[in-house]
Amino acid sequence: MTRPCSLFAATHERALRAALHRHLPAAAQAEPRLVAALAQGAAHPGKLLRGRLVLAAAHRHGLGARRASKIACAVEYFHTSSLLLDDLPCMDDAVVRRGQPCVHRRHGEATAILAALALINRAYALVGEALVTQPLRVRARAVAWLDRSLGLAGLVGGQAWDLAFARSTRSPALVSRIAAGKTGALFVLAVQLPATLARPSRAEQRALDALCIYWGQLYQIADDLSDVTACTAVSGKTSGRDRQLARPNLAVALGSARAQARLVRLSGQAERALTTLRARGGGRWDYLWELHAALVRLPAAHVEAQHHAA
Ligand code: IPE
Ligand code: MG
Ligand code: MG
Repeated sequence: MTRPCSLFAATHERALRAALHRHLPAAAQAEPRLVAALAQGAAHPGKLLRGRLVLAAAHRHGLGARRASKIACAVEYFHTSSLLLDDLPCMDDAVVRRGQPCVHRRHGEATAILAALALINRAYALVGEALVTQPLRVRARAVAWLDRSLGLAGLVGGQAWDLAFARSTRSPALVSRIAAGKTGALFVLAVQLPATLARPSRAEQRALDALCIYWGQLYQIADDLSDVTACTAVSGKTSGRDRQLARPNLAVALGSARAQARLVRLSGQAERALTTLRARGGGRWDYLWELHAALVRLPAAHVEAQHHAA
């Protein structure tokens, strides 16, 4: 019997942090700056929302603890690699990430690019190792989710449109479409990759698809509001960049009040998808509610942190 495991339990977090170090790319006589850049990523892993979700989900759907931690680390490595690249001078030219000087500021641009590539390479290998004993159908679906969520239809494509935004119509609809790619895609991966193990019914799959759309938008709006309202000391990353660089930001496009109202609407929509999953799945998707509660709290958490910092 699989024991339920709380996403935010301290033991869970410790296990995930240790696994992030353990699974890092490594080689005898690796170049020291590259090693240091990779270690920085693992030592400052952020909120680990996606990794926690994947760990709990894979465990709930029957994967052993060691294999579950491998796919959780893989999703976090994909995420970290996207941030290493996003922060480069040729993209967002950021200075601070996760409360630290960005990897390229500390170790150089070339090292940051190579660290991102090493993480991506390692992440694919970890997914392969974690799923090696699964039936062919599960492995084939997992590969399809990787391709769809990380490629041109997902993260990489969304990032390209994000960078091209200044030359576009800059409509709120385009802002949402870009968010679905650059941000939503990693939630798609974090939800759908472990969900393949559970072989969802059609109705469950539809509800999972809808949930990922709402969560991606919800997270990005919270991030957009934080970019507009929170200072770097509070958010742990260079703020105010979206307006400066003409990047898509819904709080800029709609104003903060309307962006907040959209957050509330998205939260209700996500809860309806979660309710469908509970009705259809008899509790096997319940771990998703915990992440939902954390996502909904993100804007309030930013405001609280700002208040304490003031
Ligand atoms: C980053 O988006 C998205 C990817 C790296 C794919 P943002 O540029 O909006 O995110 P932050 O604000 O730097 O974290
Ligand atoms: Mg960006
Ligand atoms: Mg950025």
